[in-house]
Parts: sequence; C-alpha cells; structure tokens
Amino acid sequence: MTRNPTEYIRADILALEPYSSARDEFDGEAAVFLDANENALDPLGKQVHRYPHPGYQELKEAISRWRNVAPERIFVGNGSDEAIDLLIRAACFPGRDEIMVLPPTYGMYAVQARIQGVHVQSVVLTEDFQPDVGAILDASTDATRILFLCSPNNPTGNILALERVEALLRQFRGLVVVDEAYIDFAEEPGWLPRLEEFPNLVVLQTFSKAIGLAGIRLGMAFGHPDVIAVLNKIKFPYNLNRLTVQVALEALEDRTALEDGIRQIVHERERLATALRRIPGVEQVFPSQANFLLVQFADAEAVFRYLQRRGVIVRDRSRLPRCHGCLRITVGTPEENDYLLTLLQEMKHVT
Ligand SMILES: Cc1ncc(COP(=O)(O)O)c(C=O)c1O
Repeated sequence: MTRNPTEYIRADILALEPYSSARDEFDGEAAVFLDANENALDPLGKQVHRYPHPGYQELKEAISRWRNVAPERIFVGNGSDEAIDLLIRAACFPGRDEIMVLPPTYGMYAVQARIQGVHVQSVVLTEDFQPDVGAILDASTDATRILFLCSPNNPTGNILALERVEALLRQFRGLVVVDEAYIDFAEEPGWLPRLEEFPNLVVLQTFSKAIGLAGIRLGMAFGHPDVIAVLNKIKFPYNLNRLTVQVALEALEDRTALEDGIRQIVHERERLATALRRIPGVEQVFPSQANFLLVQFADAEAVFRYLQRRGVIVRDRSRLPRCHGCLRITVGTPEENDYLLTLLQEMKHVT
C-alpha cells in the first residue's frame, strides 16, 4: 500500500493542464455573464439557459452532510459509469496497463477498459463468491493499476468479506475501487467510514438504486482528495446538467422517504426469496444484500423465454462463471413480484 495514491495515476494526466472556463478563473461576485456564449434571453423560459458551475459545490456539500465525507473527497458524475471510465482513463496507459476484475461481476469495468485499449485481467471469485486474495495478488503486476471490487456484488448479491477487502487494500499495489451501488440495501455500513485509513481506496455509489433516481444519471466516487482532484480535472467541464443537480438536492432533503423505500425493497426481497424457494424447478436462491436475487433454475433458458413471452424481462446471467443456470431478478413492486411468482407457479416445465 502507498501513502500517495497519485503514484497510480498516469504521469501525463498528472501534468495535464485542464480546460478552464472564464468562470473558473473568476472568483468575485458577477452580475453580468457575457463569457460563455449562452442565450441570455432564455427564450423558452425554462431557466436552464446557463451552464452549471463545473465544481458542483452545493451538491457536493449536500452529499457530504448525508454521507459524512468531506467535499474534497467527492466526485460527482453522469452515473457511476462515468467514474469507472474516468478512473481507468486516469490510471491506465492504453496498450500497456491493465485493470483486474473478479467475475462474475458488473460488466462495465471490463467494457470501459477495452474501449480504452486497456487490458483486463480476471480472477474468478471463489465458490462462495469471495475474492481469492492470494490468486489476485499472484496475478497482479506493475501494470495492474486498478482492482475493481463490487460489494454487494452484482449479480451475486453478497457482500465481500471485510477481512479480504482489507487484505487487498493493504497489499494490492494499485487503486482498489469498491463499487457500492447497492450498499443501502445491505446490513453492513460499507467502506466510506474507512476512507481516510486507505489512501488507495475509491468507493463508488450511485443515485440509481436505493435513491430511485436512475433516470437523472448521477453517481459518485469518494476517495483521497488527490485522486478526486484528478477525476475533476479530466471530466467534461459540465458533466452534470442543472436538472439533475436540482432533483438530487431535493431528494436529499427527503431522507425519511428514502429510508422507507429501502425498507420496503428489503422486505419484498425477503418475501420474494422465500416464495421462490418453494417453486418447483428453482434449485437455489442465493442470499442477497442488494435489490435483486440471483436464482438458479433447473432450466434457466426455458424460464427466461417463458417469462419473456409474458412480458417479464429478467437478466440471464447463466453464461457467467459460477452462475450456471442463473437468472438475476430485480425486486419490483409488490404487484410485479406477485405477477412473477404467479407466472412461475403456473409454469409446468421448469424442471
Ligand atoms: C455494480 C454496479 N455499479 C454501477 C452501476 C451503474 O450505476 P449508474 O447508474 O450510477 O451508472 C450498476 C448498474 O447496474 C451496477 O450494478
């Protein structure tokens, strides 16, 4: 482990002079903005005729109060997918460096890397869906700049064991990204409280899941201020639009509604899991700390096609390592879950 995580950032990115707008360079109070070629008339009266301020300070302060992390440790972007893309861009030279992923896991880490010409190393999770610490450390080289962990993991739904993640944070010589897209559905607190202890830790979270705002595209990376400063330097200047910021600020004011929503999903998840376990042809429902269930069927392909014909789309994960026969089912509304259960109970040929 290093005390200085910028060791894992590309030297040319560290040296890069970022785009700077006139408003970045001006820190007084201005009344007249004639610098950015906007339409000052606001002809449609929508009040979004001005670019947002690229620092998104008000939003970061609201997230800071909510998550108890200092604003200089927070990056905000167009979904956590943007943070994934920028982290790879910041740390990996195309054609030379690599990232490491632990399948079965979220597919975008590998896709974003390949788009950038960055190699992807894979070390499959153990049978109980945990990181194989020894194999990961053995397989990593000086070129392995980022290790992507996902906890709760998509599509398996489990939390990665604390002591294994800690061992990786201490021993992996690169950035360790813990993707906590589903952490609010879990019983564990996640890694934000340990951020200051591990300078190479980056935690990803999102407004798309527990907060229920997938449509506004807002994700966050939390990390060492020097790493976050690099992400801010290389992002598009106006990566979040004003409408997103406005809806996010409103959402954070209604925490009771958010917490109630999470409790309902967790309750439905457990109800759905119990009912699925009683359905013939269901071989295994893996325990989940997320808002979905990984379910192993005797004939997953037949179930998938049967549901699809009746307008119910689930995710076929059966070709991923350790997911033979598995479909991933998102917890829906109580009515949607009942409909799914009814269809599965009526299906005659799942075995
Ligand atoms: C583990 C994981 N990370 C990140 C994302 C993407 O999140 P966002 O909507 O913030 O881009 C997803 C979406 O399904 C996910 O499953």
